[in-house]
Amino acid sequence: MDQYSLPLTPAALRKLRHTLLAWYNAHRRELPWRRDADPYRVWVSEIMLQQTRVAAVVEHYARFMQRFPDVQSLAAAREASVLAVWSGLGYYHRARRMHQAAKLIARARKGIFPRAAEEWRELPGIGRYTAAAIASIAFGEAMAVVDGNVERVLNRVFGAAGGREAAWQRAESLLDRTRPGDFNQAMMELGATVCTPRAPQCAMCPFYKWCVTRGTGNARPQSIRKRRQLTYGLARQNGAVLLVQRPADASLMAGMWELPAFSAAQQNGDEPVARLRHAITDTDYEVSVFAVPPRKVHSLEVNARWCAPRQWERLPLTGLARKILCRFPDESRVNPSESKP
Ligand code: ADE
Repeated sequence: MDQYSLPLTPAALRKLRHTLLAWYNAHRRELPWRRDADPYRVWVSEIMLQQTRVAAVVEHYARFMQRFPDVQSLAAAREASVLAVWSGLGYYHRARRMHQAAKLIARARKGIFPRAAEEWRELPGIGRYTAAAIASIAFGEAMAVVDGNVERVLNRVFGAAGGREAAWQRAESLLDRTRPGDFNQAMMELGATVCTPRAPQCAMCPFYKWCVTRGTGNARPQSIRKRRQLTYGLARQNGAVLLVQRPADASLMAGMWELPAFSAAQQNGDEPVARLRHAITDTDYEVSVFAVPPRKVHSLEVNARWCAPRQWERLPLTGLARKILCRFPDESRVNPSESKP
């Protein structure tokens, strides 16, 4: 027995597996590579998912599959075409290695995919994690996986002694050998959606009853949050809005665009047209936005610029400015001709 396999009775282990798989049946996200267990589709998804968020992969996956629907079309493509379709996903060595592997599978292996994780590992771009993920998901091989999400779940539920190698042993002893692909994806899913790095949703967690930390495990100490008030002026004219650029030497968000500040003296006791909250790192901002009547526009910052929606949509706006502007959808965009006299 491995040193770090879980000290639980077989009955307790069965219960844990069953509880996790029931949770996965109910909560799994419908992701495009989960529709079937086709090894080509699973392989491409696992390469894309290395170091990349699920949402970004979903955006690229369909386009890639349309252009290269099978290993033969991928093998026959020029590298430049593969890289072009990969564009936007980053870490381009992944695409190059996958292309090399496609050529090996299509030619030397005559289009036959490896089945066992051990064989997958011989292909370019496939390490311990990816080999186990593909072999378990596409071929039902009983191999556990540990990525960052799975390691966090295991560390929190069972303790972190022994580091990453211990996590592999714990994962192996917890693995459901009848549904290894679903089990592995359930562990990843739990880490990605419930047992998140910050603010884990322990009340929703299928492992709550067994968990040694219940959300406190490797949580960073709560920082003391600061509260600040911010007031902005919203000046609008023919669908355009007045914006200012933050100084190039500002310590935060230098050079980005935002609404002009609007001081208490300028507010003249008026009520804001919008109030919102905005958090940046350790500060919670209470934001008030005041409508600026045309007669007061001159009192705003001197280097302000009128920007039509088409312009500000392409400017590097601060997140807060974008949030505010999105609260005021502009009539001129709906039908520009109507706003002209
Ligand atoms: N991350 C890596 N592989 C994954 C998968 N199959 N589902 C969700 N997230 C993943």
